[in-house]
This record gives sequence, C-alpha cells and structure tokens, in this order.
Amino acid sequence: MLDYAPLQIRVRTPRLELVGADDDMLERLVPLVRGGKAFAEPAPDDDPMSFYESDPETRVNSWLQGVWRARGRFTPSEFRLGFAVLVDGRAVGMQDLIAEKFDTCATVLSFSWLSTDVRGRGLGTEMRSAMLHLAFAGLDAREAASDAFTDNIGSNRVSESLGYEPNGVEWDTRRGDPAQLQRWRLTRQAWQRRRRDDIELSGVEEFREMLTAQ
Ligand SMILES: CC(C)(COP(=O)(O)OP(=O)(O)OC[C@H]1O[C@@H](n2cnc3c(N)ncnc32)[C@H](O)[C@@H]1OP(=O)(O)O)[C@@H](O)C(=O)NCCC(=O)NCCS
Repeated sequence: MLDYAPLQIRVRTPRLELVGADDDMLERLVPLVRGGKAFAEPAPDDDPMSFYESDPETRVNSWLQGVWRARGRFTPSEFRLGFAVLVDGRAVGMQDLIAEKFDTCATVLSFSWLSTDVRGRGLGTEMRSAMLHLAFAGLDAREAASDAFTDNIGSNRVSESLGYEPNGVEWDTRRGDPAQLQRWRLTRQAWQRRRRDDIELSGVEEFREMLTAQ
C-alpha cells in the first residue's frame, strides 16, 4: 500500500474507525454512491454536488474525481483529509476534515455522509466526535466549524449535541435554488469540556511532520 502520510491516519472509537480514504477504501464505498445511498431528502449539499447526478455511473465518476482533486490540492494551509467510516469492518460512509488557513488560524470544517441504511443510530455523532478528536487532540486546531441547510435535522442536531454554538446563517444554492444554511462553531475550550478519553489516534505524528516539512 502507498505510504502517503495523509492516508495513514486512523481514528478509532469504541463504535467505528476513520481510515484514510485510499483507493481501496473508495472502491468499497462505490456501491453506496452508485446505489444513491449517500443521498438524503431534503437535499443536504450545496451546489455543485456529485450526489445530485441522476445517472449512477456519472455520479460515481464525478464523486471520485472530487475526492481525488481534494487529495491532490494540498498545502499546510489548505487541505482536506477524507476518511472512510468503518463499522465492524464495513465501509458505511465518509467523514472529511477540511483545514482552512490551518498554518495561521488552525480552523477546520467538516463534511460527512452515511449510507441511508445506517443513519439514525448515533453513528453520525460518533464519526464527527472522532474527527473533532483528530482536529483538536491530534492537530491542535483552534476552532471547528460546520454548516448545514436549516432543514437538515440530522447534521444540525449532531453539531448541537456535540457542543457547537450557533454562528449565524447564510445563503447558498442547492440544485439551483436558494436555501438557508445554519452555521456552527466549536471552540477548543468548548471541546475540551467534553473531551473523550476513549478515542485513539494513529499516524498523526507522521502527518504533522509532513505539514511542517512541506
Ligand atoms: C448527517 C448524518 C451524517 C447524520 O448521521 P446519523 O447517523 O443519522 O446521525 P445520528 O444518528 O448520530 O443522529 C444525530 C441526531 O440527529 C437526530 N436525527 C438524525 N436524523 C434525523 C432525522 N432525519 N430526523 C430527525 N432527527 C434526526 C437523531 O435523533 C440524533 O438526535 P439526538 O442527538 O437528540 O439523539 C446523516 O444523516 C447523513 O448522512 N445525512 C445525509 C448527508 C448529510 O446531510 N451530510 C451532512 C451535510 S452538511
């Protein structure tokens, strides 16, 4: 397997594991994307979004291209770590950590999706917790942000229950129509108050070395 530091990071919680989304992991996720299982109603993502493609092969191709583009655009300031979410060894979705102005402001954003058949069991909250542990405990982030359309109950509830505070609203388009986004922020101090001691990180040191060497 390719020894590329961003793909070697792992985050293990009692319920799931985040594993760097290398091409083997993407291959395991392809059936979910092809089968429309990454989608939700009301539509959760702003435009453009591969999951809105109606043709399954176009959808898969466009999704893969997006993941590869994000992987290739890497600087110590702006990078995106894509993780496959494994539950009992099965790949069930993705959780991404998106770093913005990281070398100066140390802020991160998140993006995620879970297969329709495993939603509503607490996994969305657990995988965001895992990502936050990586950001704050592993990478010394200062603040994590999230946003979701106001009618995306699952995502907004995940943010709220993990201690994020509301941070205003903004507008974006989804499938061409305007829709309002709820923004959230979680400070390091707020995360510290709920910090978990049952989440394990690996591969982070090598990644941090890459950030400083780049
Ligand atoms: C967002 C997502 C990852 C959340 O995952 P999940 O496993 O369903 O979330 P959880 O089971 O941890 O639920 C979190 C909370 O939201 C609530 N919730 C989740 N889906 C809900 C729904 N459709 N309606 C009402 N409440 C919902 C849960 O009851 C839970 O509330 P609680 O903390 O009070 O118990 C998942 O729904 C998903 O993949 N959605 C489509 C993609 C998406 O929206 N991504 C985010 C883009 S911003």
